[in-house]
Amino acid sequence: MATALVTGATAGLGKALARALAREGAALVLVARTRTNLEETARQLCAAGAAHVDILPADLASATGCAAVAARLADQGTPVDLLVNNAGMGYASSFLANAVADEEYLLDVNVRATLRLTHAALGAMIPRRSGAVVNVASVAGLGPAWLASTYPASKAWTVNFTESLARSCQVRESGVRLMALLPGYTRTEFHQRAGIGTAWPPAWLWLDADYVARTALRNLRRGSVISVPSLRYKAAAWGLRHLPRTLVRPFAWEAAPR
Ligand SMILES: NC(=O)c1ccc[n+]([C@@H]2O[C@H](COP(=O)([O-])OP(=O)(O)OC[C@H]3O[C@@H](n4cnc5c(N)ncnc54)[C@H](OP(=O)(O)O)[C@@H]3O)[C@@H](O)[C@H]2O)c1
Repeated sequence: MATALVTGATAGLGKALARALAREGAALVLVARTRTNLEETARQLCAAGAAHVDILPADLASATGCAAVAARLADQGTPVDLLVNNAGMGYASSFLANAVADEEYLLDVNVRATLRLTHAALGAMIPRRSGAVVNVASVAGLGPAWLASTYPASKAWTVNFTESLARSCQVRESGVRLMALLPGYTRTEFHQRAGIGTAWPPAWLWLDADYVARTALRNLRRGSVISVPSLRYKAAAWGLRHLPRTLVRPFAWEAAPR
């Protein structure tokens, strides 16, 4: 039975991905900071059909939190077949309004943790010649969509990092797969946690987290390196990748100065 380790598994997209995997009978390792939420999510996922659920409370912004998860990924006695680097965050306030320590905290969660856990996972998967890593980025990572914010830069890193590894001979010849998942606006706790209003965008632009999770897993199995769920965000992604910046700029929004 396959084992998947999902970070940020107690809410939003991470929980939806874990739920989709549980329904397939996978064994799960759930990572997040809040133990009580991990315990409650583990109960729900066992009921949904997971073969087994372990919880691993860890703050991925900290070196010790990352080290604990990396140790679990490196353990060849209980191999992890799929790593989902999903935990991530943003701020409503702008780069200059935030303390630099807060900006570094965002990079620690969105970038450094993904780098460290991918390194640990590939170190165990490549010798076994099997396994997969999904790194959750964002359509916002394809351009300057969210101005005066570090968030799109952190997600641009995730897209480029994942694509660079996925297309390398070292990884391709091992049979290990990597995929970057680029969701658009998705109904989760993300915006509420960041203090970002949800009156905009309009309802038709919001995706359902279970739909994003199902599409991502289907794309992973098809061998996609980049997964952009939904036609509307595929079109947005194409525009952000190929249109001149002068045409794209009017669609960008500013982080609120605070
Ligand atoms: N929602 C969107 O519109 C959207 C769009 C594009 C991309 N994304 C990306 O999708 C991913 C998931 O976002 P979401 O919308 O599902 O967020 P969410 O609903 O806010 O859930 C965040 C999850 O991450 C955990 N987490 C947060 N900080 C953590 C830390 N320092 N260490 C360990 N776990 C941590 C949270 O649990 P604890 O608080 O208990 O730690 C929770 O389980 C993120 O990478 C986000 O950037 C989201």
